[in-house]
Amino acid sequence: MQIRFAAQHPAGDHSLVVPIAGTARAALERFGAAKTGIDAALKRQRFDGEPGASAEHYLDSDGGRRLLLVGIGSDALTGEGAERLGGTVTARLLTSGEREAVIDLGGIPVSADFAARVALGAMLRSWRHDRYRTRLKDKLKPTLATITIVGAPDGAEARWAERYAPLAEGVFLTRELVAEPANIIYPESFVERVRHLTELGVEIRVLGEDEMAKLGMGALLGVSQGSVRDAQLLVMSWNGGEPGATPTVFVGKGVTFDTGGISIKPAQNMEMMKWDMGGAGAVAGAIKALAGRKAKANVVGICGLVENMPDGNAQRPGDVVTTMSGQTVEVINTDAEGRLVLCDAITFAQKEFRPKTIVDLATLTGAMVVTFGHEYAGIFANDDKLAADLIKSADASGDKLWRQPLGEAYDRLIDSPIADMKNVGPREAGSITAAQFIQRYVDDGVAWAHLDIAGVAWSDKPSSTYDKGATGYGVRLLDQFIADSVER
Ligand code: BES
Ligand code: MN
Ligand code: ZN
Repeated sequence: MQIRFAAQHPAGDHSLVVPIAGTARAALERFGAAKTGIDAALKRQRFDGEPGASAEHYLDSDGGRRLLLVGIGSDALTGEGAERLGGTVTARLLTSGEREAVIDLGGIPVSADFAARVALGAMLRSWRHDRYRTRLKDKLKPTLATITIVGAPDGAEARWAERYAPLAEGVFLTRELVAEPANIIYPESFVERVRHLTELGVEIRVLGEDEMAKLGMGALLGVSQGSVRDAQLLVMSWNGGEPGATPTVFVGKGVTFDTGGISIKPAQNMEMMKWDMGGAGAVAGAIKALAGRKAKANVVGICGLVENMPDGNAQRPGDVVTTMSGQTVEVINTDAEGRLVLCDAITFAQKEFRPKTIVDLATLTGAMVVTFGHEYAGIFANDDKLAADLIKSADASGDKLWRQPLGEAYDRLIDSPIADMKNVGPREAGSITAAQFIQRYVDDGVAWAHLDIAGVAWSDKPSSTYDKGATGYGVRLLDQFIADSVER
């Protein structure tokens, strides 16, 4: 789908979208004699003008043109409300048969940024993954090819082009990586899907198993041991800031499929574990968004890419592995593999880049889904300012975060009698002990935050900015964080 901004309504066939603020009907005055019919249509459809509400009417006086009325509520429009408006339009018209929709913002007082966010909402909601649906009925195929926004203030189009269009591209990359099945996206093919970022100026370096073995990444490689796929460590560098300035580092868990390994998962819902690379997907998408908008910051994205399989060569419960940091781990449960991948990726990040700030993202624990359901991701941090900055960016971006505790008493729960630590604690506080494990690999003086996104990377139901499936969680948050706290 394509977004255009225009001063005038385009000629040619299109449906017309008019935002309606609650019970106010002033926006309908322009329709003259047709207003009576529109009013009646709104009543019949119990349209209340609240955010998310929509109703249709066909204008006889205008060749039967489809008029779509979308509620925005009676309070001042927020950025979130703007996105919801755009998203509602797309959701309603995507497969309606219409090819173009004109959203007329002329009647509402809206900033350039919010007008651009109407476009963002509309664009984000258009993404679908139909690649393998070869017999999709014509009636179910998307028809909407263009959304034209009319009546936006000056600067809206530039804001869209410079900030939000690249952001949508980043989100789409993440969703694609997350949605693809594990026979298509495995460590090497993940890297290939991300290679095009070099065209945006991103430097890409890939370490294979031999190089990782030389570096002593025994934990990451232990997870990969049962898979015929080679593990990869993907390093993406965007250098848009001061030359030589220390980069901010994002680290993503990229388990392209998580069977649980020898501690195998039950069959029910195991197919979900194709999106156990959602953290890595978010990191790749964020780097794409940042490079796409030429962010004035140095940012490195590191993805630990492995497949967790049971096999004659797979690691066993009770195995002891030595991590790149030198610390040893007793692998009690091969299904607690994400932390084993992250610890070596984080050690690598620190040795290679000496960052002051590390944010890792991971679909790390089922316990996080129990805690928050699908509304919030959990944030664990060793630094209050970093936590506060990320939460502020989360609120602004819509990728919501809620802080969770860390502490010594939790840390003790992963002490092992045979090694420096074990990879699981007791059943209780499972998300926290997972975070404690990662914290043991964070160097003194490094501000670190861990985002457990297990509940938010995938959604079984649509929202105003995504269809059901891959949400793209994390891209908007990381982009906003760089804009708010690093670029300034
Ligand atoms: N990838 C899973 C966590 C997960 C579960 C993500 C559900 C998304 C939805 C992770 O590797 C895992 O298996 N965690 C275990 C840890 C346990 C063995 C300590 C879990 O949460 O059950
Ligand atoms: Mn697992
Ligand atoms: Zn996992």
